[in-house]
Amino acid sequence: MPATVIDGKLQSERVAERVKTLASELNLQTGKKPGLAVVLVGDDAASQVYVGAKTRKAAECGFHSVQHTLPSDTTEDQLAELVDQLNADPTIHGILVQLPLPDGINAPRIIQSISAEKDVDGFHFLNVGMVGVGEFANAFVPCTPAGAMLLIEQIHGRDLSGLNAVVVGRSNIVGKPMANLLIAHNATVTVAHSRTKDLPGTVRQADIVVAAVGRPHLVKGDWLKPGATVIDVGINRVPAPDKGENKFRLVGDVDYAEAAQVAGAITPVPGGVGPMTISLLMANTLVSAYREAG
Ligand code: GUN
Repeated sequence: MPATVIDGKLQSERVAERVKTLASELNLQTGKKPGLAVVLVGDDAASQVYVGAKTRKAAECGFHSVQHTLPSDTTEDQLAELVDQLNADPTIHGILVQLPLPDGINAPRIIQSISAEKDVDGFHFLNVGMVGVGEFANAFVPCTPAGAMLLIEQIHGRDLSGLNAVVVGRSNIVGKPMANLLIAHNATVTVAHSRTKDLPGTVRQADIVVAAVGRPHLVKGDWLKPGATVIDVGINRVPAPDKGENKFRLVGDVDYAEAAQVAGAITPVPGGVGPMTISLLMANTLVSAYREAG
């Protein structure tokens, strides 16, 4: 039986609707709007698309939405100064500096200079640490893993006791926080990566697979336990000569056509985890505004 397709677009719209309602309630009660500042440095084509989508979604949710687009020769000190200004700006509750930053800018320094209270990406060490110890009340959870968890919840509920989860990828942005969230929901978690000895055999143990490596179509159908839930975090631009010269299409880290024949449930690319990331960014910004309002 072909897999259930997990509709990330629909779930993300539900999250965004709820955020919009709560933003409007905050505005009625306090006169404040959640404020999101998105900073883009340089002219990376994919980043331009993502940043545009985030800025637009914030406006749709009724937020005060600001985009700062800086040239690729911006210095680290200029960028740090902008972050300082945004840290001090009472109309801004969330700051997102889009990664990757151009060569020559020390990205960790910039990211750690964002106030932890406005770090809606969840990349500041304070937020990383709180998520690591399961202290979620005051943390910001990174948006992609948080969105992936909501999709897993659609299939398995919130308690993953007794289930094996394999996260493929160990990045700080997705793999590691994903593993922490799965542990917090009682899953038995393995983090696999490029140095794992038997990647197909490891993935085959999983009731839940989260693929987050950035390698198009890495995970094959015969790597999966029949009935497994497959969450594909990859968004890879690959050439699509059938669409014309210099055209691209987006594919995930999972070979969808094969995997959909074996999995119990699977997220598509596009339309799976990607839209959830944006809606969870809005949710984090809303939470930040509520925290600030007391
Ligand atoms: N680049 C790709 N994904 C992300 C993300 O979630 N946050 C930021 N800041 N940059 C990114």
